[in-house]
Amino acid sequence: MNAPTPTQWWTSATIYQVYLRSFHDASGDGIGDLRGALEKIDYLQDLGINTLWLAPFYASPNLDAGYDISDYESVNPEQGTIDDLRRLVDAAHARGMRVLADMVMNHTSDKHSWFQASRSSTTNPKRDWYIWRPGRQANGKEPPNNWRSILGPRGWQWDEKTREWYWASFLPCQPDLNYRNPEVQQAMLDVVRRWLAFGFDGFRLDIFHALFKDDSFADNPFSPRILPTEENPDGFLQSFRATLHHPDTLHFARTLRKVVDEFQNPPRFLIGEVFGQPEFLRKYCEGDDGLHAVFLFKAMQTPFGAREYRSLIQEFERDMPAPLLPTWVFGNHDRMRKGERLDHHPGREKLCAASQLTARGIPCIYNGEEIGMRDLPLPLAGAHDPVAGLYGFLPEFVARILHRQGILLNRDACRTPMQWSSAPNAGFTGQGNTPWLPVHPEYASNNVEASSRWVRGRPPPAARRPSRTWARRAPCSSSKRPRSSASSAKRPA
Ligand code: GLC
Repeated sequence: MNAPTPTQWWTSATIYQVYLRSFHDASGDGIGDLRGALEKIDYLQDLGINTLWLAPFYASPNLDAGYDISDYESVNPEQGTIDDLRRLVDAAHARGMRVLADMVMNHTSDKHSWFQASRSSTTNPKRDWYIWRPGRQANGKEPPNNWRSILGPRGWQWDEKTREWYWASFLPCQPDLNYRNPEVQQAMLDVVRRWLAFGFDGFRLDIFHALFKDDSFADNPFSPRILPTEENPDGFLQSFRATLHHPDTLHFARTLRKVVDEFQNPPRFLIGEVFGQPEFLRKYCEGDDGLHAVFLFKAMQTPFGAREYRSLIQEFERDMPAPLLPTWVFGNHDRMRKGERLDHHPGREKLCAASQLTARGIPCIYNGEEIGMRDLPLPLAGAHDPVAGLYGFLPEFVARILHRQGILLNRDACRTPMQWSSAPNAGFTGQGNTPWLPVHPEYASNNVEASSRWVRGRPPPAARRPSRTWARRAPCSSSKRPRSSASSAKRPA
């Protein structure tokens, strides 16, 4: 008989996503930082969560809010210093919490020295670290094939200097690494080891399903689907067969797991951002030698109702039976906030939280969800989110309609600063500072301080939630939205 597997810490994890830029600003530049998160560590402990997921803190030109990494080894000065990171991780550990880093393995920033070398000439030793292909037609100006990026437009980017195309699954400023090159695998696995040795308890793996592409570079087949969904990444009239969920990515999950298993006391944990049907996504976790969990985004698309939730739980139990672990995700920094889906009905939000926190699996909470923070729809023009730039040609009303369907063309909407109190700037940053995104106007009545009073039995004087009608009329399209100095950096900490 096999010895029973000891229960690992992640089987009882409750993950809380700290979207650093919007969580709490200690330095006063209007951008959330590591010291700010440290100042709130007791709040996090009081909440009862036991695992933090920190959004990327690495050096970055911030064209995609830190998901465009220019140096995996250093901390972005906007977020603080390596010592700030040390203190935060230590403080979490001292309180019995685990800390996950966000690991963006699929792509780097185009400002990363690897890509700078790679694009410098076709013979540079790092040329093959990224995915370069000659174009079609005599002048090479036709992209190598029909592949689209995850966001819809063509994913191939023309490089005038070397007259070839490079592949970017997400934005043009985020060239994909070439995982078919063993040196790349080695370099990224070393990055992984470096942060595990630092003390991280594991990683949230950014668009992990995009890592390997079909090396025949054959066209992607036609699909009648227009828009991708959480459960089906095909869209824009294309099946993403060659570009997502390649079998070699499933294999690499095992390679990564072996590296992570080199670190014990405590054992380390991997949770993948992958999109698709749970019954397919389980392949990433099966066999006890792959990822420990993947985000299941299906709950976000499930209408709120007893029957629907019951069948969702049954489905997750069927597709992710023990010892596999389902995950309960209702929002994150890319998606419509949970409260929006539930019409900001406090009763529904409580019931939803109750099922999220009691169903078997890992609850994943996005910061602000615990107080029912709502989205602040902001215009596409002038957005920080580069995705909004991509779709800036669309009329605003289209963006609003899509938002109501749960599709955010401007992810700034769900990234507004955490509402800590009714103090100016919601206590996110000091009075007189300019937050990098506007604070939601309802912060005066809906904030952590007010909610804590309410939990302790003293409802705040003002109505806790404005009505839905009010929400639709919220002055959120103000042209006076402050612009950030985010990418131009920060005063010294
Ligand atoms: C993931 C992140 C998102 C980022 C993208 C590219 O989906 O959650 O914020 O823009 O990957 O790295």
